[in-house]
Amino acid sequence: MSEKQQTLALASDHGGYWMKDFISQKLSDAGYKVNDFGTYSGESVDYPDFIHPLAHAVNEGEFERGIIMCGSGNGAQMTANKYPSVRAGLCWNVEQARLIRMHNDANILSLPGRFVTFDEAWKMVETFLSTEFEGGRHERRVKKIGQIIK
Ligand code: RB5
Repeated sequence: MSEKQQTLALASDHGGYWMKDFISQKLSDAGYKVNDFGTYSGESVDYPDFIHPLAHAVNEGEFERGIIMCGSGNGAQMTANKYPSVRAGLCWNVEQARLIRMHNDANILSLPGRFVTFDEAWKMVETFLSTEFEGGRHERRVKKIGQIIK
């Protein structure tokens, strides 16, 4: 695994702060490096202020993978998906985490900090990091995501 693949970008608002803390520790224990874009406490903040910098960095190719969290996972995912090279998937279970990699080649995992347990979240992170893109027909479909109608 390259240095870049080994370094993960993490960001959340207050709704995902404690989950981010847990995931960050688990990643470090598993030998990953973590680049934490904040937030750095449970104080109320606006999720775009923390998700934009992470998504920009992933879009620029500074990180291969990112993990983002907010209360529902929705606001974080919506913000990240504004960047053309970002494919952020919101997941609630391990099967979804497997599918966003196999079928969608997701480079960001979005987690709902208030709706799944920390242990479930960690299983999703492990699956997200260990599952390969299937390619084939999914390659064609993923390319079409960016083909918006003007
Ligand atoms: C914050 O209360 C909450 O709105 C936020 O964490 C997130 O769920 C937004 O989508």
